[in-house]
Amino acid sequence: MPIATIFRYTKPEVSPRKGPEGFVRGAREFIRKHVRSDDKVKIMVSGGVDSAVTAVLFYLEIGDRLYVTHIDTGFMRMIRGREESEIIAERFSEFKNFKFINARQLFYEKVMGIHDAEQKRLGFRRAYEIVTDQQMNESECSVMTQGTILPDIIETDGGIKSQHNVQLRFSEVQKIVEPLASLCKDEVRKVAEFLWSNYKMKVLESVSRRQPFPGPGLSVRVVGAITPEKLEVERRVNDIVEQMVDEYTKRRFDTNLYIDENTGEQIPFQSFVAIFDGVFTEATKDLMPLLREKTRNSIKCKILNANVTGIRDGKRVYSYPLCIESHVMLVYDVLKEIGSDIPLRTSFPRVLYRVNSKFGSLRYAVAIRSVNSIDAITATVNEIPIRILKRMANEIVKQCDVREVYWDISPKPPATIEYE
Ligand code: XMP
Repeated sequence: MPIATIFRYTKPEVSPRKGPEGFVRGAREFIRKHVRSDDKVKIMVSGGVDSAVTAVLFYLEIGDRLYVTHIDTGFMRMIRGREESEIIAERFSEFKNFKFINARQLFYEKVMGIHDAEQKRLGFRRAYEIVTDQQMNESECSVMTQGTILPDIIETDGGIKSQHNVQLRFSEVQKIVEPLASLCKDEVRKVAEFLWSNYKMKVLESVSRRQPFPGPGLSVRVVGAITPEKLEVERRVNDIVEQMVDEYTKRRFDTNLYIDENTGEQIPFQSFVAIFDGVFTEATKDLMPLLREKTRNSIKCKILNANVTGIRDGKRVYSYPLCIESHVMLVYDVLKEIGSDIPLRTSFPRVLYRVNSKFGSLRYAVAIRSVNSIDAITATVNEIPIRILKRMANEIVKQCDVREVYWDISPKPPATIEYE
């Protein structure tokens, strides 16, 4: 299959950190240079800030020659009990050529039942390529654009994870134009704020404070083989956690996303839940001296039998995480040391700390993850007080078929933000 020619705006004269207005001027010039006056352009939008900003930049230049599609892949979230795809369709209602398609069946066919993370990602990407080809054809578009940003390209080309929007193979797309390819998330947020204050398009409202959600959606958070039941539990638990982290962040900072003006750090950058079949094996005894070195309290550990992704010496690793539990509440200084040091000295790519459990024959274990980051290339654990995490975990075990709730205490690196 031919590989489309990609035009990336990689060297903007003005960085959005210095001046979003200058960046927008440059990006619009870049679009004019690569799109002819009779070209129709397609964008697939996920609802996130990157694709929303890209859609608006193109819309400002080419108006209704922009054809916008949102795919319900079946792996979108539940947001406060509502389907995320429905919310996205409402936000894009200002675009005349907006189309919503339900492609759940195709995505499920390509992804459900696959154990290996990269194979799942490739299955997702294949479904994305097929739907995009169909959509390009149907709207007779000659150019495609995407909200691809710099970390997406670095991670995929560096072999850490095959992101859904990089290294694509289409049969109907010859040309792809990517205006945000040099930016990190905090810079895209600055552009979004600038565009919102100038153009007030509905799709931009509050989008600059929206947390990232990966293109393959919940498919990379249902770790291992996906079943419809496991996916439904994930959707529910993820909604509980997003809501409770949001409430906690608003109490602490008066906003759902605090951005440090000096460093660009976003607190939290991302908060979510991953779900696992709760199958464990005993950890070997030789781990104990290492753990005892970190904490004077007695600590128990076991291994979760589910491969998750991490990074070692800049390369991808894929193996089981270590789970620890303690009868006394451990403090962050200790947790942080365990979370970053154990993966460096063992084969475990990350460490999970147990915050609640329930007796019974329930199948699933879940991990809550909340991280702070500037650019998604590195990330630190968002130090939510353990008593708040316990409250979240109580809610989860009360409402859902979940046996054990863990808190992910590993930064990136050695872990990655998502699990697959
Ligand atoms: P990791 O898990 O590699 O993620 O530390 C870094 C950031 O990228 C997001 N992510 C994706 N975004 N398509 C996307 O658009 C993808 O395939 C994809 N995979 C990961 C992830 O959520 C985090 O913000």
